[in-house]
Amino acid sequence: MFKIIHAQFIAPGIKRFVLEAPRIARRQKPGQFVILRIYEEGERIPITIENSDPARGTISIVVQSAGKTTNLLNTLNTGDSILDVVGPLGKPSEIQTFGTVVVVGGGVGTAMAYPTAAALKRAGNRVISIVGARNKELVILEPEMRAVSDALIITTDDGSYADKGFVTDKLRQLIENGTRIDLVLAVGPIVMMKAVAEMTRKENIRTMVSLNPIMIDGTGMCGGCRVLIDGKSEFACVDGPEFDAHKVNFEVLVRRNAMYREAEQRSMAEFQRLLEAKHTGQKVEQSCAAARGAER
Ligand code: NAD
Ligand code: FES
Repeated sequence: MFKIIHAQFIAPGIKRFVLEAPRIARRQKPGQFVILRIYEEGERIPITIENSDPARGTISIVVQSAGKTTNLLNTLNTGDSILDVVGPLGKPSEIQTFGTVVVVGGGVGTAMAYPTAAALKRAGNRVISIVGARNKELVILEPEMRAVSDALIITTDDGSYADKGFVTDKLRQLIENGTRIDLVLAVGPIVMMKAVAEMTRKENIRTMVSLNPIMIDGTGMCGGCRVLIDGKSEFACVDGPEFDAHKVNFEVLVRRNAMYREAEQRSMAEFQRLLEAKHTGQKVEQSCAAARGAER
């Protein structure tokens, strides 16, 4: 069991957890992730490690309520525990002195981009960060990203905070203004990463993206996280999660991620129905029991 030392919503539907996980905290490097399971029969979900504190033996993760498991996870609070947390998994981000690096964080993807942005800054790069969210409330980690960036640009889709538009509008402006860019790292929704890749391909700017396919074992055995890179199958859990954006087949990624959408929606609807009908406001063990019931 992995104890939750601290849990707090940092935006609507987005919660940060600090977990007691000393072995993972000692070994974690930026860009790596964990796979966790809340209860015995529960699904395994990959979550990028936002930060780690080897001295305290803790890691932090940021979870967006999206499906049944993430909704259930976000009902957990300080003092609760998570059954399994396996990691650190995946290859760490490549950290070198590239020159000027633009880090693009879309929505909750910002939490995954943050440790790499920090490491790139520590390695002597000039870091320009672009953080985008749908609205003001969903902008996350602004102070943290500011602290590791030479410049931080924020966009909101609806213009409720900072500049109205998408992150890609700002990336285009940087390119058009003649800013020298040696590397772009983009983490966020697939459409965003694809749009960034298309923009930088034309300019020949090296670009990395962090992919988030469905994962099960996280060890390269099950094939669940297969992605098509430069026409060849690779496994995001062991060969990634970061890949050269110009080699990623985003259409295949979208198709594979949608494979279980119907089942996911059914499971989520049933879970919500059960929670609302019988278990609202009860402890997590009961929510887990409701979730197990919903799966049967
Ligand atoms: P979102 O849909 O709110 O989008 C965030 C930002 O991305 C927007 O504000 C906008 O600036 C940009 N964006 C969105 N659509 C765009 C488009 N068509 N063109 C250009 N820019 C666009 O994001 P969210 O709801 O926070 O979801 C985050 C996504 O990130 C989820 O889909 C999640 O699966 C994914 N994710 C990815 C990773 C990873 O490792 N790659 C990790 C966690 C989450
Ligand atoms: Fe099973 Fe990657 S999650 S091969």
